[in-house]
Amino acid sequence: MAIETAVEPTVGNITGPHPGDVIVTDNLWKTYEMGDQQVHALRGVNLRIRHNEYVAIMGPSGSGKSTLMNLIGCLDSPSQGKYWLNGHDVSELNDDELARIRNKEIGFVFQTFNLLARATSLHNVELPLIYNGTPAAERTARAKAVLESVNLGARMMHKPNELSGGQRQRVAIARALVNHPSIILADEPTGNLDSKTGDEIMGLFDELHAKGNTIIVVTHEPDIAEFAHRIITIRDGVIAGDHASPRRQNQSQ
Ligand SMILES: Nc1ncnc2c1ncn2[C@@H]1O[C@H](COP(=O)(O)OP(=O)(O)O)[C@@H](O)[C@H]1O
Ligand SMILES: [Mg+2]
Repeated sequence: MAIETAVEPTVGNITGPHPGDVIVTDNLWKTYEMGDQQVHALRGVNLRIRHNEYVAIMGPSGSGKSTLMNLIGCLDSPSQGKYWLNGHDVSELNDDELARIRNKEIGFVFQTFNLLARATSLHNVELPLIYNGTPAAERTARAKAVLESVNLGARMMHKPNELSGGQRQRVAIARALVNHPSIILADEPTGNLDSKTGDEIMGLFDELHAKGNTIIVVTHEPDIAEFAHRIITIRDGVIAGDHASPRRQNQSQ
């Protein structure tokens, strides 16, 4: 675990985004202040993820996965370094600007689904469109279409407690998709599911990837990571490994 004082982050060589890059980071640092101590959760992460990649981020507890997800997902800003999302430098935006980018560009999927308990599937999926002011008729039409695309056409009027875990996660995935985001960011999406249902959800990510989506899945389960095509390992706040998944290597033989 990384608690230190008086370590100065160095400033890296800014390479910047190329056409087709969705995520580029240059020497990304995140330092949390804890009283008079500093916790360097990320210590110089350089990452490049291109459009339509399918990436798993792995690493032990405390290695910085959630911190990196929060930065990639525009939930937080780096202490140092640059982050370009779709070619735009978002490393120095304020909270309101980050919120706007987040709603437009990022589709989040969480371990605990994070659905509104009293709302129907349809309403849950419509929510991001309500936030960005989409007119009601278009909202409903788009939410219905995306629920049908995840095979929940027959469950639109059900509330979360009337659905199985796998169905709830599919509602959450539909909600993540409804704004046509640049990235789907999933944090332990199968963590609350049995392994068969988890594999079904990963099968759905496979389909979304085949349709052209860019997908990033954080997981500590190797079986789940192997659904992705590229596996990035993070350790003590730096990238310790970055390679094609065994499944992908088999496919290309
Ligand atoms: N808000 C915070 N304040 C202080 N330290 C934090 C905070 N969030 C995370 N950390 C520390 O940063 C390091 C990385 O944490 P985290 O990104 O949550 O790792 P992971 O998701 O891989 O378990 C850990 O040492 C953790 O204790
Ligand atoms: Mg975490």
